[in-house]
Amino acid sequence: MVGIFQKYLVESKIFTKNRDILRPSYVPDKLPHREREIRMIASVLATALRGERPSNILIFGKTGTGKTATVKYIGKEIENNESGAQVKYIYINCEVVDTNYSILANIGNTFIDKWAERIPFTGWPLESVYSKLLEVVDKAGMVVIVVLDEIDKLVYKSGDDVLYNLLTVNDYFESSKLSIIGISNDLKFVEFLDPRVRSRLGEEKIVFPPYNADELKDILKQRAEEAFLEGAISDEVISLCAALAAQEHGDARRALDLLRVAGELAERDGVDEVTKDYVYLAKNKIELDCIAEVIRTLPLHSKIVLAGVVLLKEAGHDKLTTGQVYDAYKIICGQLSLNPLTQRRITDIISELDMLGIINARVVSRGRYGRTKEIMLSVPSTDVKGIIEEDEVLREASRAVSVPIIRQITLI
Ligand SMILES: Nc1ncnc2c1ncn2[C@@H]1O[C@H](COP(=O)(O)OP(=O)(O)OP(=O)(O)O)[C@@H](O)[C@H]1O
Ligand SMILES: [Mg+2]
Repeated sequence: MVGIFQKYLVESKIFTKNRDILRPSYVPDKLPHREREIRMIASVLATALRGERPSNILIFGKTGTGKTATVKYIGKEIENNESGAQVKYIYINCEVVDTNYSILANIGNTFIDKWAERIPFTGWPLESVYSKLLEVVDKAGMVVIVVLDEIDKLVYKSGDDVLYNLLTVNDYFESSKLSIIGISNDLKFVEFLDPRVRSRLGEEKIVFPPYNADELKDILKQRAEEAFLEGAISDEVISLCAALAAQEHGDARRALDLLRVAGELAERDGVDEVTKDYVYLAKNKIELDCIAEVIRTLPLHSKIVLAGVVLLKEAGHDKLTTGQVYDAYKIICGQLSLNPLTQRRITDIISELDMLGIINARVVSRGRYGRTKEIMLSVPSTDVKGIIEEDEVLREASRAVSVPIIRQITLI
């Protein structure tokens, strides 16, 4: 019997077995166009190979500019160095490890081999975790480099106490030394730091500039070479992905996503070449996936407002006034036996949906009738409808509202 999965098991006509190379988590062996940044960081860290404490470094740069890839690459190089120096490189993603306790425990446990002696995930007083860290790290007699990726997340969630603790460990150490590399795509978090923490952390600052289209092209080419079968991808298609990503802000992650998704769509169609059309399809798909995620996480009343806009659109009305949207919203609330919010609140919700890029609300002048808002969906209504209808209750309610009722609203 030919199973339902059979179709997907046939060999890919697009990707090699190394398709994971296109995934964001893959750390490539070469990082084109980051030579300058790698050299700058290496020149600071070289001190560690002589057994001394390198300056702390703060790395800034917009999303997808290769910050994480670069520090991971440097980590591999420094641990494989041949100087015989005792260097420990610890990478921590503060989006995942985001409390003072877990950061200290994580660093301390790197130096504790026996499971039974490890600092538990929770339960100790913070001072005990800190003194254990001091004890085990100093005993190791190493230069320790702690990378705190997405350090802004840590500061926003837990303040800067742990940074202060880590920056002052050297005052207590006899044989070890510790320095910090902080990484962020948000410059503002620095304002939340105590001045003492700020100046120590930022002994060296390095900014990663966005990539331009040519640079993105080189990055894509290098990754595509191993991930795609010969003939499945052309220079033209790679240039298009690079150009589209460069139009935004030179984000390599976005460029790689475009290339990967275009490949996946072509593969699903069973063709043996990724054409430019697939890149445009990929662009739409990625944008829609982002919007879908935003819609899914909207509060209930915002979803109801959106459901109202969709209903009105289905009744044939593209450009809506706030009043019409409010009427449709109230009808759906009625179906759901919910108390409607005030029109004032709905006006705010409409502005929020506008800011999120789901609807487009612009103020237009209607001559002597004054000014009014004109509201339109920015995303195809069938797509929005599909996402809203994932919510069963909302689906039932909006289906119960009949088109004639909606038509009446529009006539008012
Ligand atoms: N110079 C490069 N060469 C090859 N691949 C790169 C290069 N720069 C970035 N990439 C790839 O682009 C993707 C995004 O890069 P990375 O995760 O390092 O960005 P980031 O600056 O850390 O972004 P964020 O601020 O969002 O964390 C990764 O898959 C990475 O491997
Ligand atoms: Mg990163």
